[in-house]
Amino acid sequence: MSVNKEVKRITTHTLRQMKASKEKIAMLTAYDFSFARIFDAAGIDVLLVGDSASNVMAGHETTLPITLDQMIYHASSVVRGAQRALVVVDLPFGSYQGDSLEALRSAVRIMKETGAHAIKLEGGEEILDSVQRIISAGIPVMGHLGLTPQSIYKFGTYTVRAREKAEAEKLRKDALLLQNAGCFAIVLEKIPALLAGEVSESLEIPSIGIGAGNGCDGQVLVMHDMLGINTEFRPRFLRTYLELHTEITSAIRHYIGDVRSGDFPSASEQY
Ligand code: KIV
Repeated sequence: MSVNKEVKRITTHTLRQMKASKEKIAMLTAYDFSFARIFDAAGIDVLLVGDSASNVMAGHETTLPITLDQMIYHASSVVRGAQRALVVVDLPFGSYQGDSLEALRSAVRIMKETGAHAIKLEGGEEILDSVQRIISAGIPVMGHLGLTPQSIYKFGTYTVRAREKAEAEKLRKDALLLQNAGCFAIVLEKIPALLAGEVSESLEIPSIGIGAGNGCDGQVLVMHDMLGINTEFRPRFLRTYLELHTEITSAIRHYIGDVRSGDFPSASEQY
């Protein structure tokens, strides 16, 4: 896609300014060129190439199976569709935990091979080495605390996190550690709204909530959820803006009917 020089790209700096001026940040996941282009033209601020691609694109039960190569494929498609939005890419499970050099290598591959602008990692203190190493190489990092789906087998459930005092305290501490390490924003997933509001107030960098209430500096949703492509996933925090599953099913049935009846193609639809 040719680059429109008149469109001003959202940067990590823009997001910080938005927080300072209390302008909420709108972020959505995207995994391919066509949807990225629509979302970008509609004015979305941040496109997240989430490892939720493992669920919604590949049909896996968890985010764990997706590979770095697969994330790179999705991310490079999204980047080609985005002229204005900041594109952030998830480092997949197994590509950064436990070894900060490997984390840096994974992040460098994403930046070099996709043209994305930033990466996202799940976790706090336990992955701080990786976060620091990646940031010191000049790569912007978005943190992710609360419900971190790559640790689902440790949690055992997708229920609300940090309801207990000790976990809430760890989350507050981790948020500050990530900010001090140089993260430009932090996703807060499925935690009590009061805690998310308090953490957001305490941070200079923006928080982006999903199931974390209205006190966050921005919101993110998975595109398949907010467009109603998924019918089986309807948690309380989700607002669905379309019922695409129903719309698409009806269009497909209409098409099948037209093909079977011979109505399609008509005289004007052939050469
Ligand atoms: O992978 C993803 O889609 C995410 C969002 C839910 C924040 O990490």
